[in-house]
Formats: sequence, C-alpha cells, structure tokens
Amino acid sequence: MPATRQGATGAVISGWGIALPDKVVTNQDLEATLDTSDEWIVTRTGIRERRIGGSTVSLSVSSGQAALDLAGVTPDRIDALVVATTTPDRQWGTAPMIQDQLGLRCGAYELNAACSGFVYALVNAHGLIAMGAERVLVIGTDTLSRITDWDDRATAPLFADASGAVVLESVDGRGQLLGWDLDADGSASELLWATVGGTINMEGKEVFRRAVRIMMDSAEKSMRHAGITADDLSLIVPHQANIRIIQAACERLGVDMERAAVTIDHTGNTSSASIPVALAEALDDGRVKTGDHILLVGFGGGMTAASAVLRWGGTS
Ligand code: UT7
Repeated sequence: MPATRQGATGAVISGWGIALPDKVVTNQDLEATLDTSDEWIVTRTGIRERRIGGSTVSLSVSSGQAALDLAGVTPDRIDALVVATTTPDRQWGTAPMIQDQLGLRCGAYELNAACSGFVYALVNAHGLIAMGAERVLVIGTDTLSRITDWDDRATAPLFADASGAVVLESVDGRGQLLGWDLDADGSASELLWATVGGTINMEGKEVFRRAVRIMMDSAEKSMRHAGITADDLSLIVPHQANIRIIQAACERLGVDMERAAVTIDHTGNTSSASIPVALAEALDDGRVKTGDHILLVGFGGGMTAASAVLRWGGTS
C-alpha cells in the first residue's frame, strides 16, 4: 500500500471520546457460571474485568458526542460519519441512526473489518479528507456481549462492549498520517467467525499464533512508508486481544512495554473499539505530545490486519 502522497490535503485528530457501559463483569463473576478461574483468565489473557451493556448506537452516540465536544465542533460541521463495527444493531442503518441522534447532517455508513475496523475506518476518513471533506467523525464501537456464547469458556472471558471516537479535521500539508497499511487473508477466515445472528467461533491458539506475525508485517509496512523505525515510536496502540500478544509484539518491535497503551485489564477485547479506547485513554493520561510518533496496529477476524503511523499534531 502507498504512503500518503506529498501535497495531498492532510488531517489531524482534534477531539476524541470514549463510552464504556456501566455494568462491570469481573473474572470472579464469571467463576460463578463457567468452569474457569480468575487466575487462568489473568495469566492467559491479562483481563481482570470487562464492561457489558448498551447498544452500538447508544455507545457510539456517547463517544461521538464526547469527541465533538472536545474538538469544539458543532454537528453541522461534520462532513461524514464512518462507524467501524462488527456488531451493528441492525442489518443496515446503524450509522444513520447515530448520525440522527448526534444531529449530524452528512453521509453515514458502517465499515466492518472486525478488530482491524477502526484503523480501516481512520484510513478511509483520511481518504475522504484528501478528496475534499473538512471534518469526519470516526467511531469504533462493538457490543460483542450480544454475540458471545456465555456458556463457552473459550470465548466468554475475552469479549466485551465499548466505543471510541475521534474527530478528524483537514489541515494544510501532509497532516498526521505518515504511513498506513490495510491487509486481509481470507484463507484464514475459518479461524475466527460468526454467522449473521450467531455467536463467535474461534480457533484461539491458531489466531494467537498468527496474530503477532500479521501485526508485525503490517506495522513494518506502515513504518517503512512513514520513513521511521520502531525506535522513533513514542506510543504503540495495539489491538487489545491478549496481553501476551501485546507483549510479544513489543518484543518483536524491540520496544519496552512502557511505550504500549494497555487497557485490556479493564476492558477485555472490544474489537472495533479497542484501539480508539486505548488511544483516548493514553491521550487523557497526557502520554502524547506534539510531534510524537504513534503506531496504531490491529488484527482480527477475516483475518484482517491494519496499521497506521501518526505524527501527533501533523507535519508542517
Ligand atoms: O480480536 C482477536 C480475537 N482473538 C484473539 O486474539 C484470541 C487469540 N488467542 C488467545 O488469546 C488464546 O489462545 C486464548 C486466551 C483464547 C486461550 O489461551 P491459550 O493459552 O492458547 O489456552 P489453550 O486454548 O491452549 O487452552 C489451555 C488449557 C486447555 O486445557 P487442557 O487441554 O490443557 O487441559 C483449555 O481447555 O486451558 C483450558 N481453558 C480454560 N481453562 C480455564 C480454555 N479456556 C479456559 C478458561 N478457563 N476460560
């Protein structure tokens, strides 16, 4: 995939927001209904608790409103809404319902690339801006609790609900997106899938085995396009699927875990929401300053992978 063209209209993130359901489900809660233990879940996944509840529309409206407020942008100034989700509330029309409830007057559509969805949507939104849009609201939301088999101990401890959003605004010059990569390997689609209306099926061990490799392949392409190396990264925002996958990815990149954004302990795997939520928490914690290089990198069902290198605040 190409690097961002010099001279194209660039974009920067000017606001962000998250929405987590109120209901907390701890590992101890799961011990009551599943043949599992807090010790197993923490050791094998890094998850201690997760949030369950809400709909894809309601969570998206909350995170989207928070991002608009922080950016200081009124709804009428948004030119497009892209909602990454693998759990739309309806077969179609979820993004338009979010558009209506936020008071936006623009095109609105869902994009489904499983857990890589937010990065796909963010790259998509940069493309809209390069073609003339001024501002795009990008939301990543999943309500995986609705498609999780709560009697299956192989998947139930992993998945949860959340939403994260960013406002992307056009700027002169190249903007923040220095390099990106979108990838897919449909020959591996049987490793992680759900029928429409069905629950999640996963070959966990094989997904784990491939995850680090496909994330690293994608990250290396994005960094090469951006003209940077892992040493230049101030922050890595990986998909939050398993702490051991994040640790292995950091090890392969040669960066210490202090530079990774980690939320999995309190969010679980929230698919399309996982990267924007981790990014927003890092931003709220003051971990990012102007000029920092940030790597977003995800993988998911499909199997898909996606990554992006951002220079925070853009490139003059
Ligand atoms: O967004 C992308 C989504 N998916 C992923 O990224 C998943 C990637 N895979 C993983 O994260 C890990 O493979 C899992 C967390 C799903 C599983 O961890 P693992 O270390 O690969 O465990 P395993 O599947 O090899 O199972 C080890 C043992 C088995 O028992 P035996 O055969 O050794 O007796 C399982 O039956 O752990 C057992 N087990 C459990 N025990 C207690 C599986 N699930 C549980 C459980 N509690 N919840």
